Amino acid sequence: MNNQWMYIQTGIEKNAGTILLNRPEVLNALNTKMVSEIVQAMENFDQDQSVKVIVLQGAGRAFAAGADIDEMLDKNSIELELLNQFSDWDRIARIKKPIIGAVHGFVLGGGFELALCCDILLASQNTEFGFPEAGLGIMPGAGGTQRLTKLIGHTRAMKWLLTGERFWAADALRYGIVSSIVPDELLVEETEKMAEAIAKKPLLSVRLIKESVHKANELSLTEGMQQERKNFYILFSSEDQKEGMRAYKEERKADFKGR
Ligand code: COA
Repeated sequence: MNNQWMYIQTGIEKNAGTILLNRPEVLNALNTKMVSEIVQAMENFDQDQSVKVIVLQGAGRAFAAGADIDEMLDKNSIELELLNQFSDWDRIARIKKPIIGAVHGFVLGGGFELALCCDILLASQNTEFGFPEAGLGIMPGAGGTQRLTKLIGHTRAMKWLLTGERFWAADALRYGIVSSIVPDELLVEETEKMAEAIAKKPLLSVRLIKESVHKANELSLTEGMQQERKNFYILFSSEDQKEGMRAYKEERKADFKGR
């Protein structure tokens, strides 16, 4: 693990770049410096050729229990406008490599918003999700009202955002927020398996699939289909497409080069 950071730890193993949120004494409450470290680490991994997939997880008994209330308590609107902290969050949407969120414990407020920025979410059975912001006299500001609504629909998003009630991983699975639930003790192992499976795939296929799926949230069906088709064609200029198809025909394991 790399200790150049104040609030996170990073490391690379088997082509997966891991970011560990590491303020367990405050349940990984996200302050602005921590968010900027997370985003910087993601960008570093995005540029690092040895990394194929990024994994985000939390140390201690939470993934993250929200934005740091102590940091926000005395802020006023003008300070927040000048701080422009959400520009860091916006950079997450520009990461090209897939991000797997492996969540456990509390996934609340900003922690939930960070989880919703991930491409795939695995949750351990003991995970509790929620948006407590309304009870604090604020509201989500890093995409919570938008991403949750797109994911689970108007009325369910309203329920969780307005009541602030917490819900368990089983509900998150039922609503499609997480892709799977695993026993607590298997979270790390199952995340590694998923990261390894993705890391073995040709880099360009992974990259363009991620891009196309993201477009599905932003474009009309016709525009999205056009964009998908262009990406499909682009892959036929890659060496890995020839290698993948030839290897299939020759009944051997493909040797992908990421080009
Ligand atoms: N910001 C700052 N500190 C936080 C925090 C947050 N969002 N969430 C937890 N902490 C701190 C607590 O203040 C506490 O610090 P202390 O030991 O110095 O008192 C420490 O983390 C442990 O939390 P604690 O409340 O003692 O744990 P718990 O198991 O009793 O309760 C929670 C866990 C998550 C239910 C509770 O901490 C909580 O409600 N946190 C706030 C969640 C929230 O509103 N998030 C949205 C913020 S916009």
